[in-house]
Amino acid sequence: MKKTLSRRKFLSLGGMGLAAATLAACAPGLAPSLSPTVPPNPGNDGPTSPSRPAATPTSRSAAPADVAIALAAAPATVSLFSGKPTEVWQFSGRVLEGAADALQPVPNSYLGPTFRVKKGQRLNVSFTHDLPQESIVHWHGLHVPAEMDGHPQYAINKGETFEYSYKILNRAGTYWYHPHPHGITGPQVYAGMAGFFLVSDEEEQALGLPSGEFDIPLVIQDRIFDADNQLVYRANGMMGFLGEQILVNGQPDFSLPVATRPYRLRLLNGSNSRIYKLGWSDNSPFTVIATDGGLLEKPVQRPYITLAPAERVELWVDFSNRAVGDVITLKSLSFISPARGGMMGGGMMGGGSSLELGDSFDVLTVNVTRKSDDRPKLPVRLSTIERLSPGDAVATKTVTLAMRPPNGWTLNGRSFQMTAVAPEERVKLNTIEIWEFVNDGGGRGMMGGGMMLPHPMHMHGEQFQVLDRQISRSGRRAWQDLSQGFVDEGWKDTVLVMPGERVRVIRRFADFTGLFLYHCHNLEHEDMGMMRNFEIVAPSS
Ligand code: C2O
Ligand code: CU
Ligand code: CU
Repeated sequence: MKKTLSRRKFLSLGGMGLAAATLAACAPGLAPSLSPTVPPNPGNDGPTSPSRPAATPTSRSAAPADVAIALAAAPATVSLFSGKPTEVWQFSGRVLEGAADALQPVPNSYLGPTFRVKKGQRLNVSFTHDLPQESIVHWHGLHVPAEMDGHPQYAINKGETFEYSYKILNRAGTYWYHPHPHGITGPQVYAGMAGFFLVSDEEEQALGLPSGEFDIPLVIQDRIFDADNQLVYRANGMMGFLGEQILVNGQPDFSLPVATRPYRLRLLNGSNSRIYKLGWSDNSPFTVIATDGGLLEKPVQRPYITLAPAERVELWVDFSNRAVGDVITLKSLSFISPARGGMMGGGMMGGGSSLELGDSFDVLTVNVTRKSDDRPKLPVRLSTIERLSPGDAVATKTVTLAMRPPNGWTLNGRSFQMTAVAPEERVKLNTIEIWEFVNDGGGRGMMGGGMMLPHPMHMHGEQFQVLDRQISRSGRRAWQDLSQGFVDEGWKDTVLVMPGERVRVIRRFADFTGLFLYHCHNLEHEDMGMMRNFEIVAPSS
């Protein structure tokens, strides 16, 4: 635990931006200096911490499943560039029971296999790893019991196994999975550990959306490689990690061959810290059909898409009126960065990356390579979304996002403690609450030293709805540069909270009691402790 604290302090020193401290590289093949500092159960400093559950194959007998999967993580190599292969940490999987296509490998990539499951199915996953530090898998966006959610208290060491068993309660949508051990989530995701988790249901199937090879999940990530093609993890506590090379589905210079017909493109920002402002090179608008928690009620248009870490959007992209040979580029457009004349002023908070937040660059190239006469129709109506009403909320919770030296980024002034829950972090089972995320520098304002950066706030468990946003005068300019790209119409589990902004979300807390996490999904902020538990409590307790 002492060592965890010292790492946290290190991060927060970098966080002050005065020294722009560089995190020791943790990617495989690089200085393994972080690994020995990870105690078996870091940060387990809550006064009532239960002892670590014995996560061995014999500790639970899994319920009979529709799909059973063996999932492993281990060091691996992948050829991304000519020359030396790149050392990564990679998920790999095997279907033990159920449909063989429940797992689909992503070829030539460090990405984990894509899960494809159906709502209502029971899924068993037996997770083991061969890594030099602890790990655990979290199913981002899924509504599962607390013990199945990949809370860092359940992290396992090399050779141990954690048995997951849960029913898929979520509606159809683009979810994903990634590690969640405390303090080292950023470097583990960076090293390659992430994958898609796609859920389908009958409502979605009935729509006849483009499927099979015309339904394409695309994860956007940024990385730095050294001259030997090896990953370099250089993060600081302010901006987090900003890479210099964009990868899509784990590949540099990604190009997508398409036919002249409509596609369903599922975009995930799987980057540690980078926010994208996605736009087409010919300025075509986007037609969005789904967000984090699945389909919207009806398609919506956007001039560009703002995608913060962990957020997803699904696009309907029609290439019907393109010609074979056409090339279209998906770019990240420039925007006012907090690191440059934004809330942080004068470039002092640069990430030390040659691609700063807000810089413009290409993300991927679409090559129209063949003709097709398939013309599936964009449905006018996609789904029905029950609107949660503020009048039904039993409480409003305010969460202030602020830098509090020496702790770094905090939530209501607190850092993560493994099992600690403050009184205001308790929620009654089967109720609805409003949570208000306030990014105002802790009330001190910019002049009072309250630093502000964008924070993509994520809640585990059920999806939420964005009720409203309010932006301060001083934050308005940077906000307006990104806000037309927000898609707040549907269910979400991650929402970008800009400097000077307050965002109110509303959600239900049903089905499961126990400890769940809420945190900033800038993974370096999360690792620094910008994460807390909330506890769902049964009325009688
Ligand atoms: Cu995608 Cu708690 O995380
Ligand atoms: Cu999550
Ligand atoms: Cu943050």
